[in-house]
Amino acid sequence: SSIRSSLIDPDGGVLVDLVVPEKDRVLKAKEAEALPRARLTRIDLEWVHVISEGWASPLKGFMREDQYLQSLHFNCLRMEDGSVVNMSLPIVLAIDDGTKDAIGTSQDVALVGPDGDLLAILRSVEIYKHNKEERIARTWGTTAPGLPYVEEAITPAGNWLIGGDLEVLKPIKYNDGLDHYRLSPKQLRKEFDRRQADAVFAFQLRNPVHNGHALLMNDTRRRLLEMGFENPILLLHPLGGYTKADDVPLDVRMEQHSKVLEDGVLDPKTTVVSIFPSPMHYAGPTEVQWHAKARINAGANFYIVGRDPAGMGHPTEKRDLYDPDHGKKVLSMAPGLEKLNILPFKVAAYDMVEKKMAFFDPSRAKDFLFISGTKMRTFARNGENPPDGFMCPGGWEVLVKYYESLQAE
Ligand code: ADX
Repeated sequence: SSIRSSLIDPDGGVLVDLVVPEKDRVLKAKEAEALPRARLTRIDLEWVHVISEGWASPLKGFMREDQYLQSLHFNCLRMEDGSVVNMSLPIVLAIDDGTKDAIGTSQDVALVGPDGDLLAILRSVEIYKHNKEERIARTWGTTAPGLPYVEEAITPAGNWLIGGDLEVLKPIKYNDGLDHYRLSPKQLRKEFDRRQADAVFAFQLRNPVHNGHALLMNDTRRRLLEMGFENPILLLHPLGGYTKADDVPLDVRMEQHSKVLEDGVLDPKTTVVSIFPSPMHYAGPTEVQWHAKARINAGANFYIVGRDPAGMGHPTEKRDLYDPDHGKKVLSMAPGLEKLNILPFKVAAYDMVEKKMAFFDPSRAKDFLFISGTKMRTFARNGENPPDGFMCPGGWEVLVKYYESLQAE
């Protein structure tokens, strides 16, 4: 376009777009028909989606062994010019012995979706060993049993990894009524330019928005205005891929987020709501780097981070899996993320004196109530309301309905 975009450059300089142009699709699909096949799980498909739209730019496909090793050991990828981009999660595709045998010496492999449809071609493939224990230990810092992504996507997966350059035959859609929320980095950049944003601040989340989250977002806006930005735009960016069973499902969260905007907790005029297609690892400080890096590619130059990002309770012990302060510390120092402005926040909790969500003040700790997901669920299950000022009524109503529907099962 003729308007020069003032948005932050994508990681590696160029936004990756691996969706085959419409005019070539018939021919490529025909080619794919004749190739050996690898079957994708739902989570594999989510990664195909992520890679194809350039969220992982400059990554152009599932990682080959060199990239895998760099990601696993350095949390970064080295570019040809010697510069470094952040890449803290290995984005890999596992195959089993049978699939490996079927591929044989073929250079290219067709990727088949969970429903059996031909989705993509993986080019110039490389097959290497999937040492699951090493991958798990290095990504999570533990091999404790009960890590959700591990149990869902790694333990049952094959003993080989296959890397290569990805070509996606058509844009990935889920037909769940939420595809209109799934804007690609390219579409988001266009939207930020259309709104003439002079700063874009991203908020990653996988939970319903309570007023503590809103406090972080509204405080960021105030700070950006103070810094002299005239039109900062918030990217409210719920994660839409795999989440663990006791997290609130995406459709319910999207409805909840709509209410938060309707009820005026966040301002629709300065907010873009969209879905981030990545699956969730729950790998804390390692994963939060991925969450931040991907948002650079979507045009965000500010990133909000609070308590225990991408964290969860330890699967077998009564404690957080990660130090709740490490996410923001690591993110502020992460190699390859220097160009992203990290906005670290203290923990917010319910101030029972002021009757609102506020930044925790340790000097009067007893005035504060920490309302966890479990506590929210208990309120909803018992038909109790959370304290006034915890969440807007419209948003809370959505959650009550959801938890009631769980009870009925
Ligand atoms: S996450 O897995 O997406 O990080 P969640 O949706 O709970 O989980 O959090 C979204 C963002 O809000 C993260 O940056 C997290 O650190 C921050 N956050 C969540 N709860 C609080 C809180 N009570 N106080 C401060 N920050 C919080």
